[in-house]
Amino acid sequence: MPAPLISPSILAADFARLGEQLEAISNADWIHVDIMDGHFVPNLSFGPDITATVKRSTDKPLDVHLMIEEPAKWVKTYIEAGATTVIFHVEAVDDEVAAVDLARQIRDLGARAAFSIKPDTPIEPWLDKLHHFDEVLVMSVEPGFGGQKFMPAMLDKVRALRESIDRQNLDTIIEIDGGIDTETIALAAAAGCDCFVAGSAVFNSDDPAQAVEQLRALAARS
Ligand code: DX5
Ligand code: ZN
Repeated sequence: MPAPLISPSILAADFARLGEQLEAISNADWIHVDIMDGHFVPNLSFGPDITATVKRSTDKPLDVHLMIEEPAKWVKTYIEAGATTVIFHVEAVDDEVAAVDLARQIRDLGARAAFSIKPDTPIEPWLDKLHHFDEVLVMSVEPGFGGQKFMPAMLDKVRALRESIDRQNLDTIIEIDGGIDTETIALAAAAGCDCFVAGSAVFNSDDPAQAVEQLRALAARS
């Protein structure tokens, strides 16, 4: 998969016109699907049925971001609903052993395994576990809501990941989520991100496909 990859978050889409909105971003690489349970994060979004509807409406890989408690109970359901990649939060599992075990279960079920990490959680304990994961999703806002301001301090986490992935010669993808727009995407790309989630920057635009193209070009130039 050639970087940079753009993964629009449908959290910012108009759900009354979901099919049209997905067609409008036919130049995107992946589709980012934000699952919120009202417990792990203080907001509720949608679940497996909408995920399956998205799957039926697009031929893009689905990047399913589980912002939920007890993710192990749900991974099979979301893979059956069409998740290409299942991203769970390290804060939602007991410890590193449980996280690696869950990654193995996800891979055994035929999906790509990823973890996500909240702004206040240190990345260091995870750097020697990266070979168990196809992807890491760095949160550059507090998870729960679209439209928040990018936290530049999270780029230190991206740089630590980049250095570690390159040193270990892994192909783990670094993805970033939150506040990515035409101002911030170049910073994230320069720090070493391969894939960029963008909600508001794509769906609040009059021309979502052009927004995807512009974001990709800005990331590629960095
Ligand atoms: C936040 C979600 C994001 C969100 C990004 O909890 O994980 O994927 O939709 O939205 P923007 O791009 O508007 O910050
Ligand atoms: Zn997300």
